[in-house]
Amino acid sequence: MKTSEKRILVLHGPNLNMLGKREPEVYGSLTLEQLNAELAAQAAKLGVAVECRQSNHEGVLVDMIQTADGEYDCIIINPAAFTHYSIAVRDALAAISTPAIEVHLSNIYRREEFRHHSVTAPVTVGQIAGFGSQGYILALYAAVDIIMRGGKK
Ligand code: DQA
Repeated sequence: MKTSEKRILVLHGPNLNMLGKREPEVYGSLTLEQLNAELAAQAAKLGVAVECRQSNHEGVLVDMIQTADGEYDCIIINPAAFTHYSIAVRDALAAISTPAIEVHLSNIYRREEFRHHSVTAPVTVGQIAGFGSQGYILALYAAVDIIMRGGKK
């Protein structure tokens, strides 16, 4: 299968623009720019196109998810704090036919109890948590695998 024309959208939720500065003992020292560059480099090796966006705003993320439908073959999303309470982000992911993968830098299940529940994970293909920035690379491989298997949700 030719994957060259396949497009993957990476969405970073609130406060992820602070990566590198923000609680580095939890989220690592890589900046968002460096993480996105790493994703672009890996995507080029895999022969897929990756576009990365970040927003601190719930409605903006909802708009991005809605407009991704039909435009992208897979979404990799770290909804950040919205993971735990945004029914709007969850409903947007549920509303589109594009499959999504949820990523967290930290292992949310080893942290405060309020982080143990994800309202968004049940409407994604699966979740990767606890592997730092490497989790996004794992998600990229998973996205290519999903696309090669027909891109089903
Ligand atoms: C996070 C985990 C969330 O609980 C937190 O609100 C974040 C980042 C992670 O990547 O580990 O902002 O999604």
